[in-house]
Amino acid sequence: MDDFLCSLRGLSVHYGRDAALKSVDLDIVRGERLAIIGESGSGKSTLARALAGLLPDRARVAGDITWPALGRAPLPGRDFGFVFQDPGTSLNPVLAIGEQVAEAARQHLGMGWQQAYARAEELLERVRIPQPAHTMRAFPHQLSGGQRQRVAIAAAISAKPALLIADEATSALDVVVQAEIVSLLDGLVREEGMTLLFITHDIALASGFVDRVAVFRTGELVEAGPVRLVLSSPSNSYTAALIASHRDLSTPPLVAEAAP
Ligand SMILES: Nc1ncnc2c1ncn2[C@@H]1O[C@H](COP(=O)(O)OP(=O)(O)OP(=O)(O)O)[C@@H](O)[C@H]1O
Ligand SMILES: [Mg+2]
Repeated sequence: MDDFLCSLRGLSVHYGRDAALKSVDLDIVRGERLAIIGESGSGKSTLARALAGLLPDRARVAGDITWPALGRAPLPGRDFGFVFQDPGTSLNPVLAIGEQVAEAARQHLGMGWQQAYARAEELLERVRIPQPAHTMRAFPHQLSGGQRQRVAIAAAISAKPALLIADEATSALDVVVQAEIVSLLDGLVREEGMTLLFITHDIALASGFVDRVAVFRTGELVEAGPVRLVLSSPSNSYTAALIASHRDLSTPPLVAEAAP
């Protein structure tokens, strides 16, 4: 279906003898905000890396990953952007911020450096970096963790990708900064009409702003559905336990406030 940006069919990934993903069927609908939820080791990053073509060589992959809405294989940076838990992983320590944010625009949008730099400065402003012109010349170590994550987001969306994959992008940050980054992501995907794959172990964090959740346990997709439905009547006992572990979520007001 053309509305599916990405479709996984029978996707299994093994590292050595251990299965990290077990025959997963999942569609990512164009324009949706989909959360991938599950505890540590449940296969969330493996799923994200598989669809981004970022699995290590030793991983054995079976099944299909297709991109129906694109009708071709995706180009990293152009069709999807990736934000990692640790911005140190996505930012180059020896390159100035401006160059890193401009790079994808230059490479994929056919812009010259001057135009790409102008776009980078504009993007830094959009991710609410104070003094963007000054920050363009700074290096990652000169910024706070929250600011580095904002820069990583700006770099990931530089070439206007259809999909933004955020893998525990807020987990290393304190709660206040975490809430700011979530609100930033929420605003950006709405304004740009991007699809968001928001990966987290924190169902409470995701439930406030995603449309749909997919719950994973030890490599298996145990349940997927609209966030309100899954929160109010989980069909799987593991999901119910995850929700119960967040007492805030099991109280009616927060469930009622969750996104449709
Ligand atoms: N490069 C790798 N080599 C070997 N095993 C790996 C590798 N990456 C992940 N695994 C294993 O695959 C399983 C799933 O890991 P994955 O990183 O996908 O989980 P996760 O849900 O992202 O966990 P976390 O919340 O801790 O990030 C785990 O058992 C993990 O140990
Ligand atoms: Mg992970």
